Amino acid sequence: MSNYSIKNLEEYFQLYRKSVREPENFWEEIAEEHFFWRKRWTNVMQWDFSKPEVKWFEGAKLNITENCLDRHLPARGDKTAIIFEPNDPGEEAQHISYNELHARVCQFANVLKSQGVSKGDRVCIYLPMIPELAIAVLACARIGAIHSVVFAGFSSQALAARINDCDCKLVITADGSFRGAKTLNLKEIVDQGLESCKGVKTVLVVKRTGGEIRMKDGRDQWIEPLLDKASEDCKAEIMDAEDPLFILYTSGSTGKPKGMVHSSAGYMVFTAYTFKNIFRYRENDIYWCTADIGWITGHSYIVYGPLANGATTVIFEGVPTYPDYGRFWEVVAKHKVNQFYTAPTAIRALAKESLDFVDKYDLSSIKVLGTVGEPINEEAWHWYNNNIGKNNSPIVDTWWQTETGGIMISPIPYVTPTIPTYATLPYIGIQPALMDEKGKEIKGNQVEGRLCIKFPWPAMARTIWGDHQRYYDTYFSAFKNMYFTGDGAMRNAVGYYRITGRVDDVIIVSGHNLGTAPIEDAINEHQSVSESAIVGYPHDIKGNALYGFVILKHGGERRDRENLKKEINEQISEHIGPIAKLDKIQFVPGLPKTRSGKIMRRILRKIAAKDTSNLGDISTLLNPEVVEAIIKDAQ
Ligand code: PRX
Repeated sequence: MSNYSIKNLEEYFQLYRKSVREPENFWEEIAEEHFFWRKRWTNVMQWDFSKPEVKWFEGAKLNITENCLDRHLPARGDKTAIIFEPNDPGEEAQHISYNELHARVCQFANVLKSQGVSKGDRVCIYLPMIPELAIAVLACARIGAIHSVVFAGFSSQALAARINDCDCKLVITADGSFRGAKTLNLKEIVDQGLESCKGVKTVLVVKRTGGEIRMKDGRDQWIEPLLDKASEDCKAEIMDAEDPLFILYTSGSTGKPKGMVHSSAGYMVFTAYTFKNIFRYRENDIYWCTADIGWITGHSYIVYGPLANGATTVIFEGVPTYPDYGRFWEVVAKHKVNQFYTAPTAIRALAKESLDFVDKYDLSSIKVLGTVGEPINEEAWHWYNNNIGKNNSPIVDTWWQTETGGIMISPIPYVTPTIPTYATLPYIGIQPALMDEKGKEIKGNQVEGRLCIKFPWPAMARTIWGDHQRYYDTYFSAFKNMYFTGDGAMRNAVGYYRITGRVDDVIIVSGHNLGTAPIEDAINEHQSVSESAIVGYPHDIKGNALYGFVILKHGGERRDRENLKKEINEQISEHIGPIAKLDKIQFVPGLPKTRSGKIMRRILRKIAAKDTSNLGDISTLLNPEVVEAIIKDAQ
C-alpha cells in the first residue's frame, strides 16, 4: 500500500497534510493495512489535553508479539530476526531466526506464567545487551505483563526505587555482564537493591559471565533449566488497545524518576510506521541501532519497530571502544549493516581517533545513518557524513523522547534534503508548535521558542505510573492544550526545526537524560555536605558534563578536598549510577539565591561555562557577594 512507504517530498507533504486534516482517516488506513488485529477498533482516537486523556484505536484487541513474531512466520520464518554481536569479537555472533525467536519468546513466557506472572503484573528486567533481554521484553508482552526495563548501568538504589515505584513482583537479571574489558556482577547489584524491595518474590537469573554469584533460597532461580522444560507454544494474551505495554523511567527536573506508561496499539502502529520510513527499511536489510534496550531508543528501534516490520535487527553487547576504536565499523562490515543508528556522543568520541580505525573496513553496505539523544554539532555531523557515509548516505537526525515513544521530527532519507544540525521536518501526523514565554504560539519562520506538540500522536505516553497529576503538571500545564517537550527549538526559513536543547533542569550527558534534583539529593546525603547545585557545561565529547557547586557543613572544610570529591562521586554512583558522576566539583561558601530562596542556576551555568563577562541582572539576588567568590575559585 503506497502511503506506508514514502517515496518523495511531494508524497511526504501530501500525506502530512492528510494526517493533519483528517487524522482519523489517515491513521485508520495505516492501522488497518499493516497490522494484525484480533478485533477492530470502534473509535480511532479520542483526546483531551486538559485532563490529559488520550486514547487510540479504542475497542481494538491485539497482541503486539503476534505482530512482531507470529504473522511473519509463514513468509519469514527462516529469516534472521536478531543478530547478536557479543562484547568479545572472538565470540561467535548468533543469528536468531523468526521461528527460533518465536519459540524462545513462548518458552520464556511460559516460564513467567509458571512463576505466577499474569496480565497486568509488573516485571522488572535488569539485563545486559544479550538476546535474552529482547526475549524477556517480548515474553512479558506475550502474556500481557507490563515490563519495566532498567538500564543495567543503574545502581542498586536506582534499581530498587524503580522496582518499588511500580511494585514489580519478579525481576529478571543475569549473573553478570561484559562491558569492554570489564566484567560486572549484576546479580550482586540486584541482591543489594532487593534488600529494600519487599514485593519481589522471584528472581530469574540468566547465565552470561559464569561468575560466582549467590542464589537466595526460595527466591532465585537459574532460568535455563526452566526454559528447557517449557513448551514452545504460548497463546498470546489478547490485550485492549489501551492496555499498558510497558513502563520506562526517565529523569525529571525534580524528585523521583517518572515511570512513563506506554500503550499497546498506538505505540505499535507509530513505532512500526516511523521505523519503516525513517530508516528506509527494505526487506533483507540489516539494521543496527547501538543504543541499549534499557532506553526508549532500544525499546522502539531495536525491538518493537524493527520486529513489527519483519526486519533483521542487531543487538550489540559491547562498547564502541573495545577492543579498539574501530569496533563499530568492524561490526558494520562484518554483518553488512545497511542502517546504522547511534548517538552524537559516540560519534564525537570516535572522531577524535585516527581515521585508520574507519578506513580499515568496508562500509559500502551503509545506506542510512542516524543520530539521536542530543543535538549533533556541525563538526560531528560532517565527520559522520564524510567518513562513515562517504557523502553518500543521508543522516537522519531524529528528535524524540522517552515520552513520545517514537521519532517525532526527522528527515526521511532520500526524501528530505538534510542540513547539518537540523532535525528538519515533523514526521507525518506530528504537529509541532513553538511557544513564547507568555504562552502564545510563535507563527511563521525564522523564529525560536519552546517546543510543544499540539495534537496527539499514537505513541505518546498515556500517564506517569501512579501519578497522573504529575503527568499533567509536567507536560500539559505550561501551555494550554499543548504537550510541552521541555526542549527549545528554532524554525528556519523553510520550516526546518533545529533543537537547541533543554529549557528545564534536565541535563543531557552523553545522550543520557539526567535530572539535577536526584543528583543533588545524592550529594546532600554526604555527611559533610550542607547544600549543592548541579549545572551542565559544554564538553567536547559528552555534549554536556556536570559541574557541582557544593557547600560544606561546618567542620567539613577541614577535610581533604580531593577525598571529599571522590566520596561525593561515589555517593552519586551508589544512588544513581556512574553515568551521573560529576566532572568538576567546586566547594563554595554559598549559592546565588533569589529572595524567594530559589537557586539562580543561570548564573552557575555561566560560571561553569567560563562565560562570566555578562552575568545579566543579579540585583534580585539575596547574596550577590557570593557570585564573586565563586568566580574567583572557578575551575
Ligand atoms: O532534549 C532532547 C534530547 O533528548 C531528550 C529526550 O531524552 P530521552 O527521553 O532520554 O530520549 C532520548 C532518545 C529518544 C529530548 O528532550 N534529544 C533527543 N534527540 C535529539 C535531542 N536533542 C537534539 N536533537 C536530537 N535529535
